[in-house]
Amino acid sequence: SKGVVRVVVTGAAGQIGYSLVPLIAGGKMLGPGVKVELRLVEIPPAMGALEGVKMELEDCAFPLLDKVVCTSDAAEAFVDVDICILVGAFPRKAGMERKDLLAKNAAIFKAQGEALNSVASPNVKVVVVGNPANTNALILSTFAPNVPKSNITALTRLDHNRLKAMVALKLDKNVTYVDGAVIWGNHSATQFPDVLNCKVDGISDPIREAVGGEAYLRDELIPKIQKRGAAIIAARGLSSAMSAANAICDHMNDWLHGTGDKYVSMAVFADGSYGISEGIVYSMPVRTMKGGSYEIVQGLTVDAFSQEYMKATEAELRAEREDALSIL
Ligand code: NAI
Repeated sequence: SKGVVRVVVTGAAGQIGYSLVPLIAGGKMLGPGVKVELRLVEIPPAMGALEGVKMELEDCAFPLLDKVVCTSDAAEAFVDVDICILVGAFPRKAGMERKDLLAKNAAIFKAQGEALNSVASPNVKVVVVGNPANTNALILSTFAPNVPKSNITALTRLDHNRLKAMVALKLDKNVTYVDGAVIWGNHSATQFPDVLNCKVDGISDPIREAVGGEAYLRDELIPKIQKRGAAIIAARGLSSAMSAANAICDHMNDWLHGTGDKYVSMAVFADGSYGISEGIVYSMPVRTMKGGSYEIVQGLTVDAFSQEYMKATEAELRAEREDALSIL
């Protein structure tokens, strides 16, 4: 019906899905007062579980929830959709090679790209969460040429929030005091969490020095963020679904409503900025404008320390791209 935003969530019966859908239906993603139609997509074996999620959503009596649709047909869900959150992916199983994982997911994101291309509005905003997220977004876009590349993104906001929070913790400040953190590159263990352009209220020293200098970054902070997902699985026996769901809402909320003079990290199509080659989806500092456009922030400081990390994660993304395209 009128004024209702249509939101697709794939993998909606999974762990992230279960944490995410109440946040969306509760108004955290779209903002106060915005009604939402949720279109939940799962594979056929998970449709029973998905019906249970739908029952719980009904039982929450969310005032802003207009309608819930459950389907295993992505093409049906994508018709005239406004926002598409692609969480569903083939999970990494023990003994699986990286290339096997890429192959399984390339097939999923090819099919979803084709479906999106045939039925979606060209204004649809897409965030890919399912891993390998950056390369899945690239595949999706390859098979959805009717959707502008700038409308297809991948999630690195969880990594961004982790970095911001760890800097705040280290300097004993509230997170709202920390500004200018950047995640560069792939949502993987090669990502580069960068504090060179960070500013923290009340700290006049450069933040890289204030947190402990290059050795601390190289030996502690960077690896800690790169491996945070694994640390949470080790601790909880389950993946970081709560914080991922929260980050998805942050990503979309900022994309829709604008970051003002601040910026956040989003994996977007590289356009040559910072010397990163085109043709890959690479996490960049992004400033968003109210209404849904965005730009890659130019002119941030990049030094030799940063370059080394930025090139390593670029190389990984280029290799993933080659592998994925050779499979398809
Ligand atoms: P999960 O395994 O609990 O849920 C995934 C769900 O997707 C399952 O219910 C499965 O049935 C469904 N699914 C699989 N293929 C599908 C398809 N073709 N269409 C629709 N649904 C499909 O996994 P979890 O913990 O919810 O994580 C989901 C994905 O998100 C994983 O790939 C994970 O690695 C990734 N992830 C990404 C993060 C990021 O920051 N980008 C952070 C955390 C997780």
